[in-house]
Amino acid sequence: MKNLIDLLTEEVSKAFADAGFDAELGRVGISNRPDLCEFQCNGAMAGAKKLHKNPFDIAEAVAAKLADSKLFSEVSAVRPGFLNLKIASEFLADYLRKMDSSDKLGLEEPAKKKKIMIDYGGPNVAKPLHIGHLRSAIIGESVKRMARLLGHDVTGDVHLGDWGLQMGLIITELKVRKPELPYFDESFEGEYPAEAPFTLSELEEIYPCASGKSKEDEAFKNEAMEATFKLQHGDRGYTAIWKHIIALSVADLKKNYENLDVTFDLWKGESDADPYIKDMVEKMKADGFAYESQGALVVDVSEETDSKEIPPCMILKSDGAALYTTTDLATLVEREKDYDPDQIIYVVDKRQSLHFEQVFRCAKKTGIVPKDVKLDFLGFGTMNGKDGKPFKTREGGVMRLESLISDVNDEMYQKMTDNDSIDLSEEEAKKTARMVAVSAIKYGDLSNQASKDYVFDIDKFTSFEGNTGPYIMYTMVRIKSILRKYRESNAEIDGLEIRESENAEERALMLGLAQYNAMMEGAFEELAPHRVCAFIYDIANAFNRFYHGTKILTESDEEKRRGWIALLKFTLRVLEQSISVLGMEAPERM
Ligand code: ARG
Repeated sequence: MKNLIDLLTEEVSKAFADAGFDAELGRVGISNRPDLCEFQCNGAMAGAKKLHKNPFDIAEAVAAKLADSKLFSEVSAVRPGFLNLKIASEFLADYLRKMDSSDKLGLEEPAKKKKIMIDYGGPNVAKPLHIGHLRSAIIGESVKRMARLLGHDVTGDVHLGDWGLQMGLIITELKVRKPELPYFDESFEGEYPAEAPFTLSELEEIYPCASGKSKEDEAFKNEAMEATFKLQHGDRGYTAIWKHIIALSVADLKKNYENLDVTFDLWKGESDADPYIKDMVEKMKADGFAYESQGALVVDVSEETDSKEIPPCMILKSDGAALYTTTDLATLVEREKDYDPDQIIYVVDKRQSLHFEQVFRCAKKTGIVPKDVKLDFLGFGTMNGKDGKPFKTREGGVMRLESLISDVNDEMYQKMTDNDSIDLSEEEAKKTARMVAVSAIKYGDLSNQASKDYVFDIDKFTSFEGNTGPYIMYTMVRIKSILRKYRESNAEIDGLEIRESENAEERALMLGLAQYNAMMEGAFEELAPHRVCAFIYDIANAFNRFYHGTKILTESDEEKRRGWIALLKFTLRVLEQSISVLGMEAPERM
């Protein structure tokens, strides 16, 4: 169904036309003076300039045409030439009833169903999953869910960092420690063991150790580079080790992401792009795009309109090695071939914005990606600790995602069990704590505009007050509890109808709910989960104001009470659908 704002705009546009003016002038917006009106239209002001007329006369003429409108209860022309609008209660209630009877709360199927790929997560295999990768997972998951809810065909790809020097480092260090392993015996022709020659925790210790060595020991570093080269050229033993590393890492990553309710459709990685590199490079050369510069192979991607210099895109280093850029371009070759997407959205640290600018330009210029495919870079800022520096553990080390999640979980569990007013079984307390913890972490992140840095403040994020996940959960639990109580004494809860509002708080809540579909479409269009959070927060506040001012369950007028219960059910649905795109779920009790 149509957005509320679009419906209002249609009505006012018609009135402009009927009064002999340009229908285009009838754009309606939410009022920025809610004390005066709910919606407004400033078209008369713009029209007056064009037509050299008095804006107030235009506004009055239009207002007269709207006098009998069923959509508005009040239309007033105010000086110098604004139209102040208040919508009719019956129309508002009817709009919400229609939303309520649609299974997607009034969201329409997209005019064109797009094939969208989302590249997010991006963890590097064999390095422990740390806080830096949290934002990509949380934001990407949310964008994926929004696109899917809106009816697009969406594929999420984790795009593992599984092909770089870190692999060579691990292999080299392993060779130092266990030279007797068959993987290092070039004459070995048998089957390699199915079991990995290391555990995950050994692996996690090997990598930083090797990485440290390579910084001090030139020979070690060279050996690691050579091992990387051999791996990338198909060495049998190294490939077998690499497979062990991937298997162990991926199992662990899946567990971590599962803890956050983040799931991927594809578990592809940088290595999957490797087979496409050779032909891609040949073609770039043959087409005259790639040329040699100081030994390296590059493609110019600067454009005349650039205000800052965009350096050429480096395709191969002087030693012929592929780079991060090369992998991303080859991944695009692969994605075009296998998925033919209309849009690809990369959710990556904003410090990589130049890299993606180069990759996108190069891909379009060289024809890897057709011109009409939309390539979006959703760059996010850094998550800092309370000291304003990148988030660290209490001991100052890099915080592992696992520890962060369990810290927040413990905090929430403590709060659940400290609360005497409700007695949850051990199992329910655990489950609830987990749900609320996930909401604390995700909402704390998503409520900020993605591109901004933000401070991860556990105390703030786990608070039940303020703009936090737990506050939203608490509000939803409150609604659920009222509905449960109502259900206990009234058999009939289905089929109740939302009625015209009885008081100002109720009306404010209804007006807020009516913005849902426009908000959701806009939030996806702008790739802005923080807009969903802002909406949720507004609705939660509007509901709580209504709740505090109205005795819902003890209302003696049966009709009123039924109408309110219907509104509560609907509010809960809107909140549930909204938090689901953030990757959150509300408990029954807390
Ligand atoms: N693994 C990369 C990193 O940790 C992120 C990958 C982002 N995606 C991409 N297609 N480059 O920085």
